[in-house]
Amino acid sequence: MEATVANTLHVTSSAISFLTCLVVLLCLLRPASVGTGQPLAASRTAAGAWHKDCLLAVADGWWQRTPPKVPIPDLPLNIAVRNLADAFTAFNESLAYQWGWHLYTRCDIRRRSRSEIADLLRSRRLAFMGDSHVRQFHNWLVQAVGGKPYFVPAKLPESQHNSVQVVPALNTTVQINMTHLASEIHRYLEAWSGQWPDLLLMDASVWHLYTLKNISEYTRQMDGLLGFLKAEVPPTTVLIWLSPPPRHTLKAPWWNELPAEWIRLYNRVAVDLGFMYPTGPAHHLDLYSLALDCLPWCSKDGLHVVDSGYELALQILANLLAQLEGWR
Ligand SMILES: *[C@@H]1O[C@H](CO)[C@@H](O)[C@H](O)[C@H]1NC(C)=O
Ligand SMILES: *[C@@H]1O[C@H](CO)[C@@H](O)[C@H](O)[C@H]1NC(C)=O
Ligand SMILES: *[C@@H]1O[C@H](CO)[C@@H](O)[C@H](O)[C@H]1NC(C)=O
Ligand SMILES: *[C@@H]1O[C@H](CO)[C@@H](O)[C@H](O)[C@H]1NC(C)=O
Repeated sequence: MEATVANTLHVTSSAISFLTCLVVLLCLLRPASVGTGQPLAASRTAAGAWHKDCLLAVADGWWQRTPPKVPIPDLPLNIAVRNLADAFTAFNESLAYQWGWHLYTRCDIRRRSRSEIADLLRSRRLAFMGDSHVRQFHNWLVQAVGGKPYFVPAKLPESQHNSVQVVPALNTTVQINMTHLASEIHRYLEAWSGQWPDLLLMDASVWHLYTLKNISEYTRQMDGLLGFLKAEVPPTTVLIWLSPPPRHTLKAPWWNELPAEWIRLYNRVAVDLGFMYPTGPAHHLDLYSLALDCLPWCSKDGLHVVDSGYELALQILANLLAQLEGWR
């Protein structure tokens, strides 16, 4: 009798230990974000990990050394771009770079070919509003699908002029309005007539910093723009907010009016105001974070990124559109 009780107790405590182990194991396996309702922040996780939010995972990667002799089609598809031209050789070692995504097996994120990018943009209406960063990215994108770049006409300032084209092979309408300030974008959008575009890509911070250096005033303008975007632009328009890259002050020390440390502060305003997904309506194309890691060689002129920076931004945008419900 005593033996049976002891046995029963033993069995019970074994079962309890087993159950405890199982619960602990399940807790360990459970992703940390479940139940909090918050998407995972972009994080550097090991290969094979998964990202709760593929819309954030499209920008989650890093610059890494690359074997210079391997042609890009032979690189794994998680490598978005590779830069041999701007990197350099030092002490007989090639410092060529590539940018790769972390491997999120649940998201379809990969380097996309020109024809895949063209398919994503076919018969779409794209609008670009902003300064030279937006214009240079616009040029990279339209040329990637057979359109014409837009150069600032002689004697015009980088603002208050525009152009529109239909890329014939794709029937994609692309317009660009050169503006400097968030308040100008706001006015341009108020003047918008007809159907809203499928994609609206904007930036605004650098000229505000250059001319006014008043972050409260910038915040006020951005708040006004955000209110308009939320209230008037339908959710069928994909909004992209572009943050300008970091300044390379050694390459172009004469831009005294664009203090490098302020670029980051200005870039923070949109995030802090709740502009960006998942709190806000715009997806973040953050040239600042993308170019910070490669700053010694990926700044073209101290202000803008080299072409591989725009190619990376294009790959991120293409992957974002491909993941967006309702885009395809
Ligand atoms: C680089 O390689 C060459 C030839 O292989 C050699 O002569 C030279 O000493 C090397 N230079 C350095 C800095 O290692
Ligand atoms: C061209 O694109 C427009 C949208 O910009 C669309 O309404 C139209 O149907 C497209 N035409 C063709 C032939 O696909
Ligand atoms: C923006 O650009 C388009 C295309 O060139 C033009 O039709 C439109 O009038 C511009 N918007 C403003 C407010 O100037
Ligand atoms: C900065 O902008 C704020 C908000 O528009 C304004 O109240 C303030 O006077 C400005 N500061 C300066 C130094 O101009």
